[in-house]
Amino acid sequence: MRTFTGRRFLAVNLGLRRDKLVGGGTQPDAIVFRLIKSTNSSAPMEDTEMPSEDSPVNNPFPLSPIHPTAQAVRDALATAAEDGSWRQYEGPSLVKLRSVLAESLDRKHVRLCCSGTFAVELALRSLKLPLNAEVLLAGYDFPGNFRAIQDAGASVCLCDVEVNSWVPTAASLEQAVGPNTKAIVVSHLHGALAPMPSICQWAKQRGLFVIEDACQVHGASINGKPAGSWGDLGVFSFGGSKLIAAGRGGAVVTNDDRYAQRMTVFCERGNDSFALSELQATVILPQLAHLQTDHLLRLDAALDWIKSMSRFDWLSLCPLQESDSPFQDAGAIEQPAFYKIGLLVHPSILESSLVQQIVPTMTNRSESPLSTAREWVLGKLADYQTNTGQQIEMGAGFKGFVKRSASRCRQPVPLDNSRIAADATLVLHHSHLLDPSTGANTIDRVLAAFDSIHAEILS
Ligand SMILES: Cc1ncc(COP(=O)(O)O)c(C=O)c1O
Repeated sequence: MRTFTGRRFLAVNLGLRRDKLVGGGTQPDAIVFRLIKSTNSSAPMEDTEMPSEDSPVNNPFPLSPIHPTAQAVRDALATAAEDGSWRQYEGPSLVKLRSVLAESLDRKHVRLCCSGTFAVELALRSLKLPLNAEVLLAGYDFPGNFRAIQDAGASVCLCDVEVNSWVPTAASLEQAVGPNTKAIVVSHLHGALAPMPSICQWAKQRGLFVIEDACQVHGASINGKPAGSWGDLGVFSFGGSKLIAAGRGGAVVTNDDRYAQRMTVFCERGNDSFALSELQATVILPQLAHLQTDHLLRLDAALDWIKSMSRFDWLSLCPLQESDSPFQDAGAIEQPAFYKIGLLVHPSILESSLVQQIVPTMTNRSESPLSTAREWVLGKLADYQTNTGQQIEMGAGFKGFVKRSASRCRQPVPLDNSRIAADATLVLHHSHLLDPSTGANTIDRVLAAFDSIHAEILS
């Protein structure tokens, strides 16, 4: 059994249901764009290669922040302005950030860089994979990871994610592994942690490198070991919407001297060409210092929210609270982190007579009923925002790679769960769990919006 550390974990864990998803289909590319355009809202947008996923959800600290983390950032900026370190290539904040990350993640080397997207590519490049190498990637993941594998000179082979989730397992990876597989990229997504103990054990037996993408889960841990420190290389993001945000930025961590050396050589072009700046490091440090406190507040709000959302039987919730889920490692103690909390529109929504009437009118040939139902939910959330003036930062998940052609990747196994994830995922932004400027949570607002949709579905 896998358990979670969180103040109210047990109460929540006992109260939630377990749904299994069936079905399939595809997700229209333009769902989130349409929602944003129609509402002029700043709902979060995932799965865009252009413009970036971060574009609509900037997470800036306002000028008069009252939350302690925001205050600490403001103080750090004031100090940097006074001592002039803000204009340095390499100043005290960069030096300190490397050592704080190395210590907190228990890794020997920390390579800071310009983004999480580039960090994945850099990690892959450091492995010096042979020419015909294949890298395993889940059929549902951040789009940049597909591109990073290609840009590092390898080819992509897709495996499925676990049912009702967004992460692969050792079993799903094993099904897709081939003779040229040399490495895997595993991401923790939407609050669900990939089962790293069993994945790493399996990869070791297979002689595969593990790149662990912890961009969404800074501060999470499995069995007390931080997410991002399980793989041969771990990757983090400091992008504008992330749990620790500096507008842009990323990091790769490793214990291996050779990988660290290769990353330095690759980035060195007379200067460090993909660097994180001193000013970025200046705002990251105080956020790191407050991470655990903020993390517990978010965890509490997330568990409350997930518990309350269980009343909507047309949704499947983030499976992390299921103690007997088949993809969890036996006995593992997890502390999840929530960048965006994922949930899935359940196929039962298609049984509602209202949705039955609406879906055929909305569906075009490339859309599955499930993704159309999700679009309908997002449209309802947009209406709710317009009518109440209450901002709800929720959007669709990633598009996933199921529709990518055979010339772009190998797909040796069915990717049914990845397809469902691409069609049905909704993600709620972490600012509802802990507003970065006020420290308050606004989960009641989101529940009220879903109550109003629920009433329509029942009508
Ligand atoms: C799983 C995952 N990996 C990598 C990235 C890329 O990070 P960045 O925005 O810093 O490039 C993201 C961004 O959302 C992500 O979610």
